[in-house]
Amino acid sequence: MSNSLAPILSGQMIKKSYPMGNGRLEVLKGVDINIVRGEAVCIVGSSGAGKSTLLHILGTLDRPSLGKVIYKSQDLTKKTDDELAHFRNEKMGFVFQFHHLLSEFTALENVMMPCRIFGTGKKEAAEKSMGLLERLGMDHRVNHYPSELSGGEQQRVAIARALVRNPEILLADEPTGNLDSGNGHSIQDLFFELKDQLNLTLVVVTHDRDFSKRFPRVMSLRDGEWEQ
Ligand SMILES: Nc1ncnc2c1ncn2[C@@H]1O[C@H](COP(=O)(O)OP(=O)(O)OP(=O)(O)O)[C@@H](O)[C@H]1O
Ligand SMILES: [Mg+2]
Repeated sequence: MSNSLAPILSGQMIKKSYPMGNGRLEVLKGVDINIVRGEAVCIVGSSGAGKSTLLHILGTLDRPSLGKVIYKSQDLTKKTDDELAHFRNEKMGFVFQFHHLLSEFTALENVMMPCRIFGTGKKEAAEKSMGLLERLGMDHRVNHYPSELSGGEQQRVAIARALVRNPEILLADEPTGNLDSGNGHSIQDLFFELKDQLNLTLVVVTHDRDFSKRFPRVMSLRDGEWEQ
């Protein structure tokens, strides 16, 4: 296998279960996934199929009960929580259905946050963040607090925050789920534009058929397994 086709991120036999009554609820039943650098992968499936659980495990926000998550050839499941926090800050960006912006900080300050956590100086973090906000058409709203932004604007700020540390992989869970169709559509466009411009690997969970149709690769989960 040539290097460019080697997966950047893999899940190998991912199982996730939770204690439930006398037994365990099996949410993921041994899921394999290989994501190649620069790919755009969409994960679909009905509610409760395990999509968010899988995305969180691939993003190291959660750990599998069994199985491995491999980034390049590193086994992420062997890393400590602190090592994973550092890894995520460097390599991964996350966008969720609800923006999770911090209400007491402005748009600009929210975008700067991952840089500040990493220890980037204030001036450099502000410049980087301003650049991204401009790119996302948000330069006129940088001093607004989240409550002073529309839903589409909030999501743009959340996307800028996800990208400010130059991640290789952008993971998104229903990023258009809370938007009207116009805003949802422009956020869809943005994902693909940014993917190309920034050389991102994209993994997106969505219910939105219009969105999923735009991906070259769509994988469907059903009851914790891939649907064939
Ligand atoms: N902490 C937990 N304890 C027990 N069960 C859980 C826990 N977290 C998730 N589940 C169960 O795991 C299943 C999969 O959840 P998940 O959030 O991954 O679904 P999903 O495919 O993202 O659904 P949706 O489209 O509604 O977001 C659900 O049935 C859920 O109830
Ligand atoms: Mg979900």
